[in-house]
Amino acid sequence: MYSLLLLLPLVSPLVKSAAIRSVDLAGYVLTDTGTINGGNTFPGVSRPLGMVKLGPDLYSGTDAYSGYLPNGNFTGFTMLHESGTGGAPKYGVVSQMPVLGAVQNPLSDAINDTRAAPDVTEIGYYKASLGSGTVLEMAATNKAGMFQYTFPTNGLARNVLVDVSHVLSSYRGQGLEQHFLGGSINVHNDTKAGYYYYTGNGTYDNGWNRAAPWTVHFCGYFDSPATYKTFLGADRTSANLVEYGQKTSYSSTTARLGAVFSFWKSSVTSRVGVSFVSEAQACANVKAEIPLGTSLATVRQGTRDAWNSQVLQKVTTSETNVTKLNQLYTALYFMHLLPTNKTGENPLWQSQEPYYDDIFTFWDTHRCTTPLLHILQPNYHEELIRSMIDIYRHEGYVSDARSSFFNGAVQGGSNCDNVFADAFVKGVRGKVDWEGAYAAMVKNAEVAPPNNNDPRDRTSSTKEGRGALPDWLKYGYITPTYGRSVSRAVEYSVNDFAVATVANGLGLQNDFQKYLNRSHNWRNHWNTNMTALGFSGFLGPRNANGFLAQDPLSCGGCYWADYYYQALPWEYSFNAHHDLDTIIKYSGGADTFVKRLEMTFQPGVYSGNGAFGNTIFNPGNEPSFTTPYLYNFVNRQDLAVQRSRFIAKSYYKPTPGGLPGNSDAGAMESWLLWNMIGLYPMTGQTTFLIGSPWFKDLTISLGGGGKTLSITTSGGSEDAYYVQSLKVNGEAWDKSWVSWYDVFAEGGSLDFVLGAEPKNWTTGATPPSPGSVSVDDARRMLTAMYKGSVSEL
Ligand SMILES: *[C@@H]1O[C@H](CO)[C@@H](O)[C@H](O)[C@H]1NC(C)=O
Ligand SMILES: *[C@@H]1O[C@H](CO)[C@@H](O)[C@H](O)[C@H]1NC(C)=O
Ligand SMILES: *[C@@H]1O[C@H](CO)[C@@H](O)[C@H](O)[C@H]1NC(C)=O
Ligand SMILES: *[C@@H]1O[C@H](CO)[C@@H](O)[C@H](O)[C@H]1NC(C)=O
Ligand SMILES: *[C@@H]1O[C@H](CO)[C@@H](O)[C@H](O)[C@H]1NC(C)=O
Ligand SMILES: *[C@@H]1O[C@H](CO)[C@@H](O)[C@H](O)[C@H]1NC(C)=O
Ligand SMILES: *[C@@H]1O[C@H](CO)[C@@H](O)[C@H](O)[C@H]1NC(C)=O
Ligand SMILES: *[C@@H]1O[C@H](CO)[C@@H](O)[C@H](O)[C@H]1NC(C)=O
Ligand SMILES: *[C@@H]1O[C@H](CO)[C@@H](O)[C@H](O)[C@H]1NC(C)=O
Repeated sequence: MYSLLLLLPLVSPLVKSAAIRSVDLAGYVLTDTGTINGGNTFPGVSRPLGMVKLGPDLYSGTDAYSGYLPNGNFTGFTMLHESGTGGAPKYGVVSQMPVLGAVQNPLSDAINDTRAAPDVTEIGYYKASLGSGTVLEMAATNKAGMFQYTFPTNGLARNVLVDVSHVLSSYRGQGLEQHFLGGSINVHNDTKAGYYYYTGNGTYDNGWNRAAPWTVHFCGYFDSPATYKTFLGADRTSANLVEYGQKTSYSSTTARLGAVFSFWKSSVTSRVGVSFVSEAQACANVKAEIPLGTSLATVRQGTRDAWNSQVLQKVTTSETNVTKLNQLYTALYFMHLLPTNKTGENPLWQSQEPYYDDIFTFWDTHRCTTPLLHILQPNYHEELIRSMIDIYRHEGYVSDARSSFFNGAVQGGSNCDNVFADAFVKGVRGKVDWEGAYAAMVKNAEVAPPNNNDPRDRTSSTKEGRGALPDWLKYGYITPTYGRSVSRAVEYSVNDFAVATVANGLGLQNDFQKYLNRSHNWRNHWNTNMTALGFSGFLGPRNANGFLAQDPLSCGGCYWADYYYQALPWEYSFNAHHDLDTIIKYSGGADTFVKRLEMTFQPGVYSGNGAFGNTIFNPGNEPSFTTPYLYNFVNRQDLAVQRSRFIAKSYYKPTPGGLPGNSDAGAMESWLLWNMIGLYPMTGQTTFLIGSPWFKDLTISLGGGGKTLSITTSGGSEDAYYVQSLKVNGEAWDKSWVSWYDVFAEGGSLDFVLGAEPKNWTTGATPPSPGSVSVDDARRMLTAMYKGSVSEL
């Protein structure tokens, strides 16, 4: 049940703080959204950015990326998961599993359990009803979790199995499966509570980023008397036991190990802390966050409160359409699950800087997620930026992705550069060491990383940096010597523009010119002879002798070793977002550019995207994210609204199957949020393209000081969403874009009039295309961008 009374707008400042406390927006979050049909989201329990993600692990012969599957059997309930990732599962470690009856062999694969009823999930709470009759409820804090067992009263022995070797496996056959490499388990008497508790560690490797071995330490308490047996397996993979009895500890790098606790009460709770630093810290984490005697209800409410105050209450509306509110708050939820805040938990180096992990990946999140995080969570965003620089300082590269304290995998360019440039132009300074950030960017731009021999593409590194750099430096384009040559070339161009942007801001004029020049290199891949559907000129593969034949509507396998990664040549040919005026020119001018965009959204022209009406446009993948908004660059804002609104309403639903593809760590959800807000960020620039907001009113809190962006619409409905006119901070507006400094830096207002018919209201200057002008003009434009002197653009 949702109470609409709680959603009255917060009008009076006098009652504001009391009102905020009482607003339970968490009730609108549907935590099973995106869990099936490839969305891969995590439906278990997590605090915002929480290191612990406690939830079920299921097996049905297919990769369970978040642990969850809608079918199959439970094999464990584990403390660490990712959300909305692909490629191969990661984590699914620090496990407990209830087992009834005498446990003959705790390592037997027969230890799994069916579902007696669908799982129950909501913010801060997860409940699994097992076929055996046991009910397991879960709650979690940042670094600890709680399991509450209700065992059936059928006379069978009541056990909890702790299997240190449990991980999520991969069945794709690409050598990306995780391995258990060893660990320890110790059973202690808790003299204070009088019950047993266990501590230990497990070491694992591999997974999607082909990580080096990493270790998690754990510390698990029970609230009931028990007996126990510890066990040691014959080796790291088999189910054969060599010892099974009441020994207090095992430590092994060659064998599986764990413990079975047997209870006589029917109700048992367990509190488990984790740490990546030490066993002592794992115990300290659980004692600090879930002290002895804490109820599941308290932990659950604490998580709800954290989401309300830290995330959901940053965006408020008087809207009453529950579906829209579900979509708004659910999307906000899923974009705050990753990365995870592991500050104080970095085992690799001592530092005063924050530490963030589980970056999956900037390739996915740099367009929509990080610019929105900057707005909603300036502290978190600044900590993330600082953490990236610290990783560069200690490891030599800040990568496009990172998990379990290990860089990788890099799908395209070094897109952390775009994240840095975006923060720089929008005035993020605080405690950020910008010289350090710039050094990290130059490293990406100048020093090819050593090849890590990834079987997915052995031609260069997938761990960090820019593997295809030797060609980029030598030729100004990338030959098929390297995998993903064309899609990397367009991304490297955007990355070089990011370097140029920060160079200019730091007063490094030679570097600025050099990287601005390099940012044009995507043009060397423009093959005017590539044609499709009546259009010519697309980004194509080439070597030193010239272009290779290529169909603009095929990306071959679209995988690591192909010319294009996960998107068509047609789609990538829109993606030099710093140099759009050149793309428009190369495409044949504004009118042809509009026609080309229209063809992108035309149903039935491309047979490869059945789920999306066989459009070339693919709403489920990031290289297409910005495309529907590009009409704004030729002042056809009406078409941007038409296309983007159609996509948002057709392909996104607040249901388990309601994402058009993999959530990609919240990237999809943040695309939807921008559509609802009615703006779209051009990452790395201060430009926000104007769309059409979904709500009569929306107030976004801009991180402290009472600054807000207030958005209103009048005349709108489900069928009337074309912009008729707009006022920005009370002034009539005729441009298809606003700048960061217009509405975000100090707050502001956007007041839209909407209607059922399209209108050509954008008659003013088109959005800046700073990569398309002379060096002097680009310098002037960029300087104006981060000085906020918008009139100079
Ligand atoms: C799930 O468990 C049931 C009962 O033990 C078993 O019959 C079935 O084969 C299991 N399913 C899978 C996918 O392992
Ligand atoms: C689950 O246990 C049943 C026997 O109880 C076994 O047939 C099945 O293979 C097991 N499934 C898994 C995933 O281990
Ligand atoms: C795991 O714990 C054992 C026993 O305390 C210890 O000897 C070992 O060094 C630990 N492993 C790691 C990687 O910390
Ligand atoms: C824990 O305490 C109980 C009861 O005092 C005792 O029977 C048991 O041997 C102790 N176990 C360990 C591991 O110290
Ligand atoms: C509520 O919002 C949903 C999603 O946008 C929409 O489909 C539905 O028509 C809306 N209901 C009303 C009554 O406007
Ligand atoms: C990240 O974690 C650290 C250590 O727990 C904490 O001090 C910091 O406030 C957290 N950052 C955010 C944005 O929550
Ligand atoms: C940039 O390119 C132009 C012409 O292509 C060249 O004249 C200039 O020297 C280059 N500048 C730098 C800094 O590389
Ligand atoms: C396009 O094809 C024509 C005719 O085959 C050829 O002369 C020209 O060099 C080609 N252009 C490019 C950019 O490959
Ligand atoms: C907007 O302008 C375009 C191009 O000039 C034109 O084709 C279109 O019909 C106009 N739309 C309206 C609603 O006037």
